[in-house]
Amino acid sequence: MKSSYFEDAAATWDNEPRRVAMTKAVGETILREARPTKDMDMLDYGCGTGLLSLYLLPHVHSVTGADSSAGMLQMLQTKLKEADIQNLKILPLDLEQDRLPDNRYHLVVTNMTLHHVAATDRVLRAFHALLLPGGMLCIADLDTEPGIFHAPEAAASVRHHGFDRAELTSQLSQIGFRDIRDVTAHTIRRPIESGEQRDFPVFLITANRR
Ligand SMILES: C[S@@+](CC[C@H](N)C(=O)[O-])C[C@H]1O[C@@H](n2cnc3c(N)ncnc32)[C@H](O)[C@@H]1O
Repeated sequence: MKSSYFEDAAATWDNEPRRVAMTKAVGETILREARPTKDMDMLDYGCGTGLLSLYLLPHVHSVTGADSSAGMLQMLQTKLKEADIQNLKILPLDLEQDRLPDNRYHLVVTNMTLHHVAATDRVLRAFHALLLPGGMLCIADLDTEPGIFHAPEAAASVRHHGFDRAELTSQLSQIGFRDIRDVTAHTIRRPIESGEQRDFPVFLITANRR
């Protein structure tokens, strides 16, 4: 059964400045590394309340914000209504279980979501299938960490303690992605359970679908 963590966290998700700062840093790195253009349709998988979707929206033609949490999508829906945004569509989606949507995209981005996904290979293959030929995948997530990043209330939703960049690169290559590159997009400084401040690097991997 899916964890209810994100349903409970949705209403106050944006109140944490650390999250907003991280999304901005990841967004800036995507602009630099993927160079999106105004004719591109983008999918943000695991979009949450839309922090990254809304940051990148002015740089692309359209955004589809997909997430498995109704609570997170409701928060995004409220923002879209308040700002009268027409070119960001919401899509309830869980690629671990759902069939592939019909639309195809020039750009697929996903921020801090893959470590909540058990069926990583299935979802990465779905990203490949959802991209148009020549399209680009951007994955931002934690480097491997010793299982201390998440607060106890989030623990049940965590499927991976970050990722080894080389292993993820090899997996993407086997799926058929090419020109796979990684950079460090940001470092999250946050207190762990003991109260001590620790640094957690966040990578951005970019990969092309030929
Ligand atoms: C850590 S949050 C990140 C949200 C957003 N990308 C951000 O940076 O603020 C992870 C998001 O992934 C979503 N998620 C978790 N598992 C998912 C799945 N299997 N399919 C789609 N979304 C999922 C959660 O509902 C949540 O919104």
